Amino acid sequence: MDFFDVVKNRRTTNGPFLPDPVKPEHQRALVEAAAMAPSHFNSQPWRFALIDDKERIGEIARISGESMTKLMEDGTFWKRYRPYFRFSEAEMEERRDGIFIDQMPSVLKPFRKQIFSNTGQSIMNRFGVPKTLGEDNRKLVANSPLILAVMLDKNEYRPGELSGFYSVFGMGAAVENIWLATAELGMGIQFVSTPMEIPENWRRIEEIISMPDDLALMAVYRLGYVPEDKKRPTIDWQSRQRKRLSQFVFRNSCDVSEDDGAGLVDGSPEGFERDVRPGPGRADSL
Ligand SMILES: Cc1cc2nc3c(=O)[nH]c(=O)nc-3n(C[C@H](O)[C@H](O)[C@H](O)COP(=O)(O)O)c2cc1C
Repeated sequence: MDFFDVVKNRRTTNGPFLPDPVKPEHQRALVEAAAMAPSHFNSQPWRFALIDDKERIGEIARISGESMTKLMEDGTFWKRYRPYFRFSEAEMEERRDGIFIDQMPSVLKPFRKQIFSNTGQSIMNRFGVPKTLGEDNRKLVANSPLILAVMLDKNEYRPGELSGFYSVFGMGAAVENIWLATAELGMGIQFVSTPMEIPENWRRIEEIISMPDDLALMAVYRLGYVPEDKKRPTIDWQSRQRKRLSQFVFRNSCDVSEDDGAGLVDGSPEGFERDVRPGPGRADSL
């Protein structure tokens, strides 16, 4: 694929992957791509664990599903992430950021706007939405052929210090290389983030991978090959819009917004909007 096509086609895959194991050469290509990323003083502070052992994946999946149910049931998730939710296609078009749950069972649709209120929460709980999402999430993770744990060397990662910030910056670049490589390899990738929200669950994952004390677990992803037939699940969301250049770029001084206009990546004055292929399932974490 042309570089800009890779950039444009990179996506988060929220749906199921094919059961096929990820080829060893592809696994290595991913971590080799990560290693090409820049890091301060070439410190390469990242460490990766490639997990293709079914039993460990199953345990991580259970923790992820449980975490999802808990966060959804007690309202933590909605309270924490409320600013990122959009309620209509029109709002999404105007803001061009955030995420829009565009697919849900019709019985829930009338309550879309109340989702962040106490009433909304009790309706969701009454319809068993947290349990459904938790079980969907467990299955998605359990059926992923590869889990990737991203860690930082604690000597390089000291929160609050500038070098700690640089390390996170470098890690982000490394992860983006992996993310782009998935687009090239016909693979998908998704954060397994819910356990991170619950410190004791995050520690359980550290134990599963026998992470030593001199490393810090920063992120967990699930990966696999994306099926041709991408069915949308019952609860699904989309986030394909990107801000127009005038919404995030300035020219010379921050008083002057960049003109919108055709560029190499998007080629459309309407703002970034990638091909609207029916997304892979999105009933997973958001
Ligand atoms: C730091 C970070 C955290 C994210 N956390 C999650 C997450 O918890 N679950 C998830 O499914 N996607 C997560 N994402 C993916 C974003 O939701 C996604 O990138 C965004 O909605 C744009 O969609 P796209 O990746 O398909 O372009 C995260 C992305 C980043 C960079």
